[in-house]
Amino acid sequence: MGQDHHHPDAGTGAYQAAYDRSLTDPEGFWGEAAQALVWDKPWTRVLDDSTPPFFHWFAGAEINTCYNAVDRHVEEGRGEQPAMIHDSPVTDSKTVITYAELRERCARFAGLLRDLGVTKGDRVIVYMPMVPEAAIAMLACARIGAIHSVVFGGFSARELATRIDDAKPKVIVAGSCGIEPSRVVLYKPLVDAAIEAAAHKPEHCVILQRPQGRADLIPGRDVDWAEAVASAEPAACVPVAATDPLYILYTSGTTGQPKGVVRDNGGHAVAMHWSMRYVYDMRPGEVYWAASDVGWVVGHSYIVYAPLLYGCTSIMYEGKPVGTPDAGAFWRVIEEHRVSVLFTAPTAFRAIKRDDPHGEHLKRYDISTLRTLFLAGERCDPDTLAWAGDMLGVPVIDHWWQTETGWAIAANCIGLEVMPIKPGSPTKPVPGYAVEVLDEAGAPVAPGGIGRIMVRLPLPPACLPTLWNNDERFVESYLSAQPGYYLSGDAGYLDEDGYVFVMSRIDDIINVAGHRLSTGGMEGVLASHPDVAECAVIGVADKLKGELPVGLVVLKAGVQHSNEEIGADLVRLVREQIGPVAAFKTVLVVERLPKTRSGKILRGTMKSIADGIEYRMPATIDDPAILDEITTALKAAGLASGQAV
Ligand code: COA
Ligand code: AMP
Repeated sequence: MGQDHHHPDAGTGAYQAAYDRSLTDPEGFWGEAAQALVWDKPWTRVLDDSTPPFFHWFAGAEINTCYNAVDRHVEEGRGEQPAMIHDSPVTDSKTVITYAELRERCARFAGLLRDLGVTKGDRVIVYMPMVPEAAIAMLACARIGAIHSVVFGGFSARELATRIDDAKPKVIVAGSCGIEPSRVVLYKPLVDAAIEAAAHKPEHCVILQRPQGRADLIPGRDVDWAEAVASAEPAACVPVAATDPLYILYTSGTTGQPKGVVRDNGGHAVAMHWSMRYVYDMRPGEVYWAASDVGWVVGHSYIVYAPLLYGCTSIMYEGKPVGTPDAGAFWRVIEEHRVSVLFTAPTAFRAIKRDDPHGEHLKRYDISTLRTLFLAGERCDPDTLAWAGDMLGVPVIDHWWQTETGWAIAANCIGLEVMPIKPGSPTKPVPGYAVEVLDEAGAPVAPGGIGRIMVRLPLPPACLPTLWNNDERFVESYLSAQPGYYLSGDAGYLDEDGYVFVMSRIDDIINVAGHRLSTGGMEGVLASHPDVAECAVIGVADKLKGELPVGLVVLKAGVQHSNEEIGADLVRLVREQIGPVAAFKTVLVVERLPKTRSGKILRGTMKSIADGIEYRMPATIDDPAILDEITTALKAAGLASGQAV
């Protein structure tokens, strides 16, 4: 375990005390936590609860998130400390950026945005690979009160276009390319295609030219990052209302239309800062590494905002857990940069375990600085948890959260008190979250019984105050299932000790290698093919990625093409229209799909068959014989053989 640092002892009651106070006296609790930050104007209310079901933290206050994450540390003497270390095995480069340098670069880029006409409240889409400029663009937006919306690089032009039309950005900031181990992904053609397809046209694109794949710029519209920033004047931090949006992050919803999750400035900064100490047990000056991508919420919160707000050094890693160059990549980064805490998705450890089951690579590295491994993004199977713990010899903490919340809903808050670990559980609700399990009628389910996991309102700071420009959808999606509660969309149970167990989604969302995707969105793409009469997409258990999407399609009568041709077409379509990240590679052509008598496709039953899990014959099934046909088709594709994780 890391030297000179011990996690707080178990059994002190510190967790329960903090948790209880966060619910009985939320204003006192978060008001105190907020003292750690620099405010331009104090709040009038810690929690404005005057317009339920909408709640606003730190109403009346003004703050600047970039100032608190960057400038403040320079003023307080951390100027020479590394703020960010970019470690990029795919480009064979390492770059250290100190807090003083980060301030300079954020201020100049903010100046450039301002020169392009971006002001407070304007939106800026960021479509970037894992380079420091992605974080600089985000922080620069925060600096001038603009609202960033980062779009993950593995999404297609069509997904980007959807986000352009919803966020209506004045400017798009993009890298010319991203680098995947197998290929260079040119981003600029995707940006051009997205703008072409979108109804809204941004005024400018700022393009970071990378030598691995340079972009052609459109004169007048496109601006070269390096050239333009050289002549830009630094911009100062602009105070914004604590309740003003800091960013919009789109996430899969139950339809093809992604949800624009809004994050505010004040509550977000407070929760991020608090979590570094009490969830992750970090100290300022230490090195924190979230091996995720800035395009996901984990990247927003724990590559960029939380480590910087807390004065840590954050690692930005442009590579994979395996293959860049081998399954020792993570250990190298930990040793080289003296990482205290690593946060990643279980799928990364499954990938490492697959390539190096006995941890041979570990022998080559000294990872003694590592104190704790945190996992999130998908259900953590007990095998992976145990393997990681055996290999690393440090506590492995599963914690549960979502894009919507921005930080953990349930965790072992080891900065408060280390709780006993129960494999399969992300431990207990984090202070601020009144987690309950309710049945369909809204009654609490007894310990051990599965139901909908809900959080009683108000949600703590940093959780979404609404969806972008869409209060109605916010209320409809999250707050209307049970008045007074937030619907997490996950099902699970609380045990007799109050531990949370998250088992499955109640909607069509699947989790592929820690990436959240909507099967409904994929069905929409399949259904658009002229030869497809009907289709269903299910998430099938996969040993590496947790789940993989499988498409079942019924073709129209008299189709001219072969099943193979149509299958290949559909795989290409999903890749083009959603993105490679969907990892959609399996299509089965079937004669019929199983349905209820009222015509609802029985996706859950098909998933059980594919996963080799016993299932009950649905009472309302129209024709049970169809399930045999589906089983045969799945078996022919190597599925339905009991390979559930
Ligand atoms: N830009 C463009 N394409 C991207 C991309 C990006 N930023 N990120 C991923 N892709 C592509 C990949 O190249 C791959 O394409 P392919 O079908 O041509 O091979 C596809 O999207 C799927 O990528 P990925 O999910 O990374 O799978 P993989 O098979 O390349 O690697 C793992 C498997 C387990 C190593 C990988 O998923 C991983 O490291 N996961 C870590 C989990 C994680 O970061 N989760 C985020 C939430 S915390
Ligand atoms: P995202 O919004 O992409 O972060 O995905 C959030 C979803 O991932 C959650 O609603 C869960 O379904 C799943 N998830 C995240 N973390 C965990 C976890 N620790 N255990 C189980 N499921 C998780």
